[in-house]
Amino acid sequence: MQAEFWFDSWERGGFYTSFHRRDIHPFVERHTPAERFAGAHVLVPLCGKTNDMLYYRQFARHVTGVELVEKAILQFFTDNSLDFVQKGNRFEGERITLLCADFLSLEAEDVGQVDLVYDRASLVAMPLEMRLNYLRTLDRLTPVGAQQLLNTLEYDPVLPSAPFSIAPEEVVAYYADGYDVSHVEATVVPQHGMVRRWGLRFLMEHGFMLTKRRNLRPELLEPRLHEALAQMVLARNRRLPELVETAGLWPRGCDGASPRVA
Ligand SMILES: C[S@@+](CC[C@H](N)C(=O)[O-])C[C@H]1O[C@@H](n2cnc3c(N)ncnc32)[C@H](O)[C@@H]1O
Repeated sequence: MQAEFWFDSWERGGFYTSFHRRDIHPFVERHTPAERFAGAHVLVPLCGKTNDMLYYRQFARHVTGVELVEKAILQFFTDNSLDFVQKGNRFEGERITLLCADFLSLEAEDVGQVDLVYDRASLVAMPLEMRLNYLRTLDRLTPVGAQQLLNTLEYDPVLPSAPFSIAPEEVVAYYADGYDVSHVEATVVPQHGMVRRWGLRFLMEHGFMLTKRRNLRPELLEPRLHEALAQMVLARNRRLPELVETAGLWPRGCDGASPRVA
């Protein structure tokens, strides 16, 4: 995804930044509770102006968000009436720093010691050809023992634009070489705006808790991507009938029937 796409999205706002939620994501409270992560340093890649950073800031030692578009960063501080000081590309508030940078260009010293990564709409914002680079970057920024809450969307038919559909099998293919992967949420969301907008047959939101056991082996990354692709196709074929049933939707065009959620 080109940087211009994101600059343009933030310039236009509204529908183009509809990934932004007003609430705290329910997975966050369920899987990264304050009592387990008090005092942690939380890294939020591709952070936008997510309010989830406010949740973490309540008990974290520090929250570091990384965002390409300065406008999003300024909106975060303004919307939440938070003071900040700008030092170069760092926007520093109390217990929170938003770094205006291309996440893929960062080195460990840019973010410091990370205990928890929160990825919502980051991996799924990356087209396939950038995903390996994203995995490599995240891997070099995090020490062994770091944890990650990862949210992905899985839907059908797939769209050639962010948010990209990523099935659990793909997540395992990307991360299992170096991380323990626990699939903690799988929710069918028939009322999701994308279902109506794109006439999707189903959409699921997945949550994973990951714990890093060792660095990903670079020589395995490329084969992992191919494995992930194969898994994506297999998963979809396997799950589609059941998911269509569960979500209460009809496959579009099936016997001329209309989708029940249109
Ligand atoms: C789909 S949005 C998700 C935002 C946020 N995680 C949320 O849940 O609301 C992706 C965000 O990443 C930013 N972004 C895209 N590519 C980036 C990159 N390479 N480095 C840093 N930020 C990037 C975009 O400007 C956008 O705000």
